[in-house]
Amino acid sequence: MGNDQAETDAQHSADSPDPDEVGAYAFAVWGYKQGEMVSLMIHLGDRLGLYRSMAGAGALTIAELATATGYHERWLLEWCRGQAAAGLLAYTAADDAGAGERFELTPVGAEVMAHEDTSLAFAAGAFSAIPAPDFVDRLAEAFTTGIGLSWDEQGPSGAHRTERMLGPWTRVAFVPTIIPALTGVHDKLVAGAQVADVGCGAGLALCTLAEAFPNSTFHGFDPSGNALDLAREKAATAGLSNVEFHHAGGEDLPADPTFDFVYTFDCLHDMTRPAEVISAIRRSMADDGTWLIKDIRSSGDFVTNQKNPMLAMMYGFSVSSCMSSAMSEPGGAGLGTLGFSPPVAEEMVRAAGFGHFELHDFEDPSNLYYEVRI
Ligand SMILES: C[S@@+](CC[C@H](N)C(=O)[O-])C[C@H]1O[C@@H](n2cnc3c(N)ncnc32)[C@H](O)[C@@H]1O
Repeated sequence: MGNDQAETDAQHSADSPDPDEVGAYAFAVWGYKQGEMVSLMIHLGDRLGLYRSMAGAGALTIAELATATGYHERWLLEWCRGQAAAGLLAYTAADDAGAGERFELTPVGAEVMAHEDTSLAFAAGAFSAIPAPDFVDRLAEAFTTGIGLSWDEQGPSGAHRTERMLGPWTRVAFVPTIIPALTGVHDKLVAGAQVADVGCGAGLALCTLAEAFPNSTFHGFDPSGNALDLAREKAATAGLSNVEFHHAGGEDLPADPTFDFVYTFDCLHDMTRPAEVISAIRRSMADDGTWLIKDIRSSGDFVTNQKNPMLAMMYGFSVSSCMSSAMSEPGGAGLGTLGFSPPVAEEMVRAAGFGHFELHDFEDPSNLYYEVRI
């Protein structure tokens, strides 16, 4: 019997993988499924204003949360318990004296889930997009055709989600921290400069600068109609008269030296023809102009990038959005989320005739910045 068992075990290990390793692998996979479900709950919490209602309100019973929000108690209880299970809400159990269970969005949680206008750590906006109905089918088809989805084909809420995801750094750091670090740019903006935001998306960066520097004139360029609708609405709401949006890609910038300051935020890696856009930027810039590039923090080397604990998420963004956009025309460059690394950036920028290339690290966890001049 003992010999039979030993033989069976030996046979098992030769023919099939270690069950403990299979269990650990399956646990990791179910962790991603849990992430998908928690992501949906975060989407609901953000969309329904639950995090904003809970911020600063202390530990709430479900009845108190229902009164504050007007939502149904049974649904709130299930959502809150799920959020507590995910570690996103603090939990106090009901006590023997009859006090009901309580849920709290702590001050730390509020920085990440509620304080969109003031916190660099705000993240809930990243969960806001609802993909176009045929989005996943078209993504699957792209593996056969090689042709991805442009920004607008990815769905109308893509520009909104992008802005909410990238917005905190634009709101909190662009004017007070980043502009002053660029040689001569602040003074030119105060005096009155011609500025272009290439790949301006929903226009937050452009409107933020236009409000801060009323003597300057700002031009936003983007081929996405969805993004420009949001951008125009934002500029109109803010009453800005020094802003103009152009439904055009960076390839179609003016061919003569027009701009004193150009910037491209998180978009060169999304473009089908980034080299063409970089050449167009070079032609459109005044001789003493500055180009600020913000693009995803990446070493350019997959092995080194594996130190990034969020690398798998970055590849998910790439396949579903950035690389897809960059492959949305035949012959697209397809750089993707991690593709515009410092070595690639420097090579492409110098190839277009720029002489000055300077890396700035503002400790933005997601992005690096490059100051470029002719
Ligand atoms: C990740 S979003 C960034 C938007 C914005 N700069 C921001 O920081 O929120 C990338 C943008 O690049 C735009 N884009 C794609 N191809 C482009 C091109 N050829 N010229 C200009 N913009 C382009 C997309 O439409 C999209 O709005």
